[in-house]
Amino acid sequence: MRIWENRDAWGINNLVMSEVDAPGAPGDGEIRIRLRAAAVNYRDLVTVTNKTPFGKLPQIPFSDGAGEIVAVGAGVTRFVIGDRVCPSFFQGWIEGPPTARNRAVSLGSASHPGILQEEIVLNADYASAIPGHLDWIEAATLPCAGLTAWRALVVEGGIKSGDVVVVQGTGGVSIFALQFAKMLGAEVIATSSSDAKLARAKELGADHLVNYRETPEWGNAVLDITGGRGADHIVEVGGAGTINQSLAAAAVGGNILVIGILGGRSQELLMPAIFGKNLRILGISVGSRRHFEEMTSAISRHAMHPVVDRVFPFSDVPEALRTMEGAGHFGKLVVVLDA
Ligand SMILES: NC(=O)c1ccc[n+]([C@@H]2O[C@H](COP(=O)([O-])OP(=O)(O)OC[C@H]3O[C@@H](n4cnc5c(N)ncnc54)[C@H](OP(=O)(O)O)[C@@H]3O)[C@@H](O)[C@H]2O)c1
Repeated sequence: MRIWENRDAWGINNLVMSEVDAPGAPGDGEIRIRLRAAAVNYRDLVTVTNKTPFGKLPQIPFSDGAGEIVAVGAGVTRFVIGDRVCPSFFQGWIEGPPTARNRAVSLGSASHPGILQEEIVLNADYASAIPGHLDWIEAATLPCAGLTAWRALVVEGGIKSGDVVVVQGTGGVSIFALQFAKMLGAEVIATSSSDAKLARAKELGADHLVNYRETPEWGNAVLDITGGRGADHIVEVGGAGTINQSLAAAAVGGNILVIGILGGRSQELLMPAIFGKNLRILGISVGSRRHFEEMTSAISRHAMHPVVDRVFPFSDVPEALRTMEGAGHFGKLVVVLDA
């Protein structure tokens, strides 16, 4: 079978596709999955370019995929051959609060192999069924980007109809957050560096649009839009580049859901805003299998479809990563494995 890996060196240009033996029969409690599609996350760029100090070669990248079960090991009761599943991002977190232990192993991290392989054997506890109305490409987007947005707004944020949500930029997590927020009756303020992307966000239901290049102090724009009240939830993916605008944009008692560091890792904070507004600043790292299943149940009920911008053949994984690096995409980039 074919895999992609950084074998001898890090970097997009050093990714190599090779033929390796397919995994053997699944052991007790395991399933063997034939992957059909894999979605790109910003994290994959970080891993492939070894921006974390923990990387170990060789490394198979990517966490997010969808495929069908082609064999089940003894004792597996959750699945049968032919079931359509997504592997869980965390191979260890079924339910309950996050712990160091249940999040110790994630697919495609700096030190654990990912899913860019045609077949993979996993513990059956760490995969979940795919909504029936989604194709492989759409389903592949759910394990990291979809689940992170869901956990931020729904599980931790407790979003309600009528709440005001800010989504930053138009990448994978933010577009899922926009879709979930609209699905649950919230008012959405979308920011982007591009008017063309803002027009697409409007088509998805964004109620207010702010170009953060033209309006770098977009926190004030959020206050203007909300009559001075501010936003109830801010899906914070910009990190150092956005956190102080998020503090300015938040309503009293609002949630800042800290997810990403697209605009840098560290920044001085306007501390008085945090206690003055009684803000809740919550760190999010993806979610559990239970969160995933709550999300897919809602996606099925609302017949929601993830937004996929471009699809690449398996042979073009480096091109998919370069496209993500270029940040011209809207929503998700996906690779198909059987092409
Ligand atoms: N904590 C977690 O569990 C978790 C899970 C998933 C992702 N993440 C992190 O969340 C971030 C987003 O991930 P992703 O996969 O959704 O990324 P992505 O798809 O690559 O998003 C890229 C888009 O983000 C926007 N952007 C870039 N810099 C920005 C800035 N300074 N301010 C506002 N928007 C900015 C741009 O949108 P426009 O072109 O529209 O401006 C860009 O096109 C990354 O840092 C990722 O590592 C964390």
